[in-house]
Amino acid sequence: MENKEQRYERLLPQVAALCDGETDRVAKMANVCALLHQEFGFWWTGFYRVIGDELLLGPFQGPLACVHIGYGKGVCGTAWKEGRTVVVPDVDQFPGHIACSSESRSEIVVPMVKDGEVVAVLDIDSKDLATFDEVDARYLEQVAALVV
Ligand code: SME
Repeated sequence: MENKEQRYERLLPQVAALCDGETDRVAKMANVCALLHQEFGFWWTGFYRVIGDELLLGPFQGPLACVHIGYGKGVCGTAWKEGRTVVVPDVDQFPGHIACSSESRSEIVVPMVKDGEVVAVLDIDSKDLATFDEVDARYLEQVAALVV
């Protein structure tokens, strides 16, 4: 049985192949969220792009989600503002968490940085508590770097 690390190790070359030679970031986001979502069976997997002074919903897989997120708002806006990956083991314990779905119990948000600026975030939600840890953070940061 493949563990989480092995699964990410297997997926990274696929992510690289999907992104190689592609210049349109939205197209890359679309395929990469489909791949991650299918492989891991997450509850929600998607991207928000920085457009003006807010995060705007981008390609995703899963149930409908909120479209606009302000700077510093929720987990996504916090990851954007602080420019760091935010791992939330229990969304009820995160002040200001934005509940797009009441089913979400834990979450990870990885900022995507281009030329020193956060241009988007990768957001993944789970129906279980404490799904994400530093292993997910480490690999999803590599995924983010390939997509950006
Ligand atoms: N929970 C996020 C909002 C986006 S949804 O999870 C898809 C947040 O608090 O920023």
